[in-house]
Amino acid sequence: MVRKLHCISCGKDYDEGVRYQCDCSGLLEVRYDLDGAGFDLERARNRRLGVWRYRELLPVEKNVSLNEGGTSLYKCDRLGRKFGIKNLWVKNEGENPTGSFKDRGMTVGVSKAVEFKVKAVACASTGNTSASLAAYAARSGITCMVIIPAGKIAYGKLSQALIYGAKVLAIKGNFDDALEMVMDACDKYGFYLLNSINPYRLEGQKTIAFEIFDQLDGVPDRVVLPVGNAGNISAIWKGFSEYIDLGIISQLPKMTGIQAEGAMPMVELFKENLDVLKPVKNPETIASAIRIGSPVSWLKAIRAIRDSKGLAESVTDPEILEAQKLLARKEGIFVEPASAASIAGLIKLIEQEDIDKDETIVCITTGHGLKDPDVAVDSCKDELIEVKNLEELDGVLRDI
Ligand code: F0G
Repeated sequence: MVRKLHCISCGKDYDEGVRYQCDCSGLLEVRYDLDGAGFDLERARNRRLGVWRYRELLPVEKNVSLNEGGTSLYKCDRLGRKFGIKNLWVKNEGENPTGSFKDRGMTVGVSKAVEFKVKAVACASTGNTSASLAAYAARSGITCMVIIPAGKIAYGKLSQALIYGAKVLAIKGNFDDALEMVMDACDKYGFYLLNSINPYRLEGQKTIAFEIFDQLDGVPDRVVLPVGNAGNISAIWKGFSEYIDLGIISQLPKMTGIQAEGAMPMVELFKENLDVLKPVKNPETIASAIRIGSPVSWLKAIRAIRDSKGLAESVTDPEILEAQKLLARKEGIFVEPASAASIAGLIKLIEQEDIDKDETIVCITTGHGLKDPDVAVDSCKDELIEVKNLEELDGVLRDI
């Protein structure tokens, strides 16, 4: 099948290979002859729900897998009712093998690394990307190097990268600095870069769109998700767009990206209708996964938001923590702070009347709550009841 790497800025096409950007430094995306791909939805639906159900629309053979994808789509009536939303769904990507949506990208990206016979893979990360890449590299026997901002990634994620045996380099600086460094290192030492600038990785992530369509048996009016480096929103949009091109669907969802107030360059880009992203110098938020000031995929992402007539909105850290608790307590779904940003953003947009309560809305919760136990315990610490003896226990139980 014919596949090209296509520059989204100047339109130049490249043959497949190890390449992350166009000569004009534009972002690349994988383009297929979709009609010739031989994808048959009915046949695909007989396969297990997951990334590889859609194999004809992916750019590589399955060389490494941990059964990624196939995450639950929960109808959230108790949470929805609180805000008058009739059709609220949560796609819980925390159910992936390493606990985040990154696994969808890595099964494809590392399969490509195996095909290219690279000697090592590398990424910069706020935590989840490194955890996921380390796992898939381990499973395929490829050396893995990750660069993280020292002291700035959640403990659960650090523990994963270390236990899977990646070489973990902690730098002074933030994610944006780490990304620059790893890009230089990949150029210099020939490591294969698996940040979301890698167009193959995003192909795995587009299957979120395909799964939502299979699970809802339709297209939602809106998809709401947290935005950091802006790869995922671009990937999901690409998935829905390919289904339009294939004639499988005739309507697209409004892509709605949520950022934290201290790291909201995409929200500024959208609200101020700018042509070019203005990076945020010192991004800060409790949602460490999306503590990013200069998202690499900003152009893909803003196109997704504008073309879909979607929205971008920011939320505060207290709003994120409140949403995290609400989702856990109303629906039994425990997600990390960045993921809760999607819920917090939805609540804000509903309260501002920017979103119609009758819409069918899917929020993507991108990572598992246990990734960042420190934040969760801290936000509930006043609720911990210390009991010194039986009398105190009686006192507490009588009031329940
Ligand atoms: N949610 C979680 C839990 C994440 O880990 C990330 C990104 C995002 C949302 C944002 O996704 O970058 O595609 O817009 N984490 C990256 C990492 C940057 O290094 O783990 P995006």
